[in-house]
Formats: sequence, structure tokens, C-alpha cells
Amino acid sequence: MADPPKFDKKSRYTEGRGIAGAFEGETVTRRRLMEGGAQLAGGVAVAMIALPGLGFALGPLFKETEPERWEDVGPRDDFNKSTYVPKVINISPGVGDAGKTTVYVREYNSKRDTKVKGQDPLPYVAISTRCAHLGCPVRYIQASQKFVCPCHGGVYGYEGEVQGGPPVRPLDRFYTKVENGRVLVGKRFSLNSHLERFPHPRDPSNHLDGLWQYLYPGRPTT
Ligand code: FES
Repeated sequence: MADPPKFDKKSRYTEGRGIAGAFEGETVTRRRLMEGGAQLAGGVAVAMIALPGLGFALGPLFKETEPERWEDVGPRDDFNKSTYVPKVINISPGVGDAGKTTVYVREYNSKRDTKVKGQDPLPYVAISTRCAHLGCPVRYIQASQKFVCPCHGGVYGYEGEVQGGPPVRPLDRFYTKVENGRVLVGKRFSLNSHLERFPHPRDPSNHLDGLWQYLYPGRPTT
């Protein structure tokens, strides 16, 4: 009886490895080919779903920020360190009254305001009236020195820090500067609970503490 043929397990040819149904010159088994094809198709399907989502989330970070715009809110004498003065500014030019919003402005108070390490204080504090929970307009109550939101009972302190209710971070602010004795209000920025500035503002309800800041990318046009 003839000896069974010897096969080389390491041969690159399926025929050389004694695989049933192999034909001359074949280097990949049909099973392997089908597995590879299925994995490739799966990878393409996942990429088609994941890439648009990733682009939507991260795109705003790479988008050109809004051109710098400063709005004059009055002479320095209009403001002091202890009281907020409401002022109307236009944050979306070209849409009429819909682009207007109220900001509360006061002079920076070095004795009372939180000084964040590594950040130069702005000469004036301009606080947004957009609640950091779902965006309702907040109102400043001078007697209690608190910002109060009528929608779900959000309460913020003198610096816009959260003191009660559902808001997830302090009230946004706007950059300020002084030119020729006039107070100018610039772009919006958001803050975390330590009142650290995040130049790209976030939408209401976006957390900014710890790892949350990476889950909610900034939206320069928000
Ligand atoms: S929108 Fe202000 S507390 Fe809900």
C-alpha cells in the first residue's frame, strides 16, 4: 500500500497544505476569503455610521470662529462693583430683534470675585441671561444678589455660580474691554464650576467639569 502523500503545513499554496478542493496556484482558502470580505464589509458599514457622527461632534472645534465683534454698552461711569446693570446687545447681527439678548454688566471686584489661577481677570463682568440648564432667561434680584430662572427654579449666586436647581454649570459670560472710556462687550464664553474660562462656549445643559468637557465640544456660534 502506497504511503499517504506528505504535505507541507507552511506552504503558501492551499494545494501544498492538502486542503480539500484546493486548486493549483490558490493561496487563500475560500473560508478565509469570505471571512475577510465579511470583516471588510462590517468595517465599511461601521465607518459609514461613525464618521458623520464624529464629524458632527468635532467639526465645530475646527471651524473658523466668529469674526471678533465688540458692542459698546456705555461709559465706564454707568457701572460699579456691587450692582449689575442690564444691557441689551446684539449677538446675531442680521436677524433683527431675534439676535438681541440682555447681559448683566458690572465692574470686576478684586475683593469679591473669584480669581482663577493663570487667567487675567477681565475689567468688567458681563453675565449672560441664558440659563445653563435649558436656556430660559434668568433675572438678577439685587436684594438677594442672585440670578433666578423662572422655568425650573435654577438659582445662581453673585458670580453666576450654581447655587440650586438643575443647572449644570455657571452662567456664561462675555469678554469685556475698555476703550476711550467706554465699556465694550465681545464674544461669549462658558465656565466650569471653578469659574475657569472655556473660550469656545457650550450649549445649555452641557457639563464642563472633569471629563465632561471632552464629551461636549465647544460651539463657537452657540
Ligand atoms: S431652564 Fe433654567 S432651570 Fe431649567
